[in-house]
Amino acid sequence: MYKVFINGYGIIGGRLATAVSKDNDTDLVGIAKYSADEKTEEAIKKGYKVFVPSKLINEFRKKNYDIAGSIEEAITESDLVIDASSEGNGFKNMIKYYRPLKKKAIFQGGEDRYGKKSVANVIHNSRINYEKTLGKEFVIQGSCNVTGMGRIIQPLIEEYGDSIKRFDVNLVRRWADLEDKKEVKDSIEWDKDPHHQDDFKDIIPSINLYVDALKVPSRMMHLHQMTIRFENKPPSIDEVIKIFQDEFGVAILNNAKGTGDIRKKAIELNFEHGDTSMVHIHSELIRIQDDVLKISYSDDQTGMVIPENYMLIQSMLKNKSRKEALKLADRLFGLKRKKKILESEFH
Ligand SMILES: NC(=O)c1ccc[n+]([C@@H]2O[C@H](COP(=O)([O-])OP(=O)(O)OC[C@H]3O[C@@H](n4cnc5c(N)ncnc54)[C@H](OP(=O)(O)O)[C@@H]3O)[C@@H](O)[C@H]2O)c1
Repeated sequence: MYKVFINGYGIIGGRLATAVSKDNDTDLVGIAKYSADEKTEEAIKKGYKVFVPSKLINEFRKKNYDIAGSIEEAITESDLVIDASSEGNGFKNMIKYYRPLKKKAIFQGGEDRYGKKSVANVIHNSRINYEKTLGKEFVIQGSCNVTGMGRIIQPLIEEYGDSIKRFDVNLVRRWADLEDKKEVKDSIEWDKDPHHQDDFKDIIPSINLYVDALKVPSRMMHLHQMTIRFENKPPSIDEVIKIFQDEFGVAILNNAKGTGDIRKKAIELNFEHGDTSMVHIHSELIRIQDDVLKISYSDDQTGMVIPENYMLIQSMLKNKSRKEALKLADRLFGLKRKKKILESEFH
């Protein structure tokens, strides 16, 4: 059985650990902790082996945490590492561990694709370029926003291709995640150079795309407002809905009042970690005027990338086809089932 180690146990790492530990076909070697805090105890209680930097082993043991060994030992034992570290540490980990120990690694969207700190030469979006990651050594999993944009843009390109002139997207982003200790600041902040545009163009170089990003005082999901300009008349609302009806990881909802409604519903329904792992098209917000189609959809920032990372394990380690990887991802995350439930809750 292939062995996977999760380097970093924060918002994303914790979710990845749940997913990998539930997968009967993959062995979770353990998780890495860097701070000797209460999350260490949480991980141990969940049955995960906890590994820490060798120089910190004594500090953790002094606090009576049962440490399985050093991070280097865990990585040596693994076939692939999912790096779920805070932004920028992935590069340091690549230099320190993954390259010298010759281990495959998946990095998260906070790492660089270009420049001195580049960690990989491909950004993955399972809807668009899964095949490019087959057997690869290092891959970046696109961020939640890049993942969500792919689920909407690619089906439109496949259906309407050259008759689309351009895509403009406003990303309205949450300030912090629900479990984040970070305070939510009462301000709307803009991003003068959103990385999402370049990241997406790396996946589809020919796309005419413009992205703006705003951060708002919320902990509940993201909202993308996408404007699609056509050469002539855009498709009708019914035609748009039809395209997305059977899309994996896309739900079509009606009458939700805001992102908080969806997050709270996911928690109420006991979805794992309170995630839907989907984008939700808000059908009452689809608008058409002249040559323009507008689609607004919410994007579950914390859950989106978890099935994506899982699919990367299938491609990088196991050389599975996309079709097979999707089937396995649905078996583990139950996305089709969750989509049905959400669509009946918001109709
Ligand atoms: N949060 C989201 O919604 C979201 C969505 C998509 C993608 N991402 C991306 O996922 C990555 C992780 O984000 P996050 O929100 O999970 O961050 P987070 O909650 O702040 O967790 C980061 C983790 O990194 C650990 N860490 C510290 N130094 C490290 C090192 N040198 N190597 C490995 N791990 C180290 C920390 O461990 P200790 O706690 O033990 O100090 C912490 O558990 C980022 O690239 C982010 O951009 C986040």
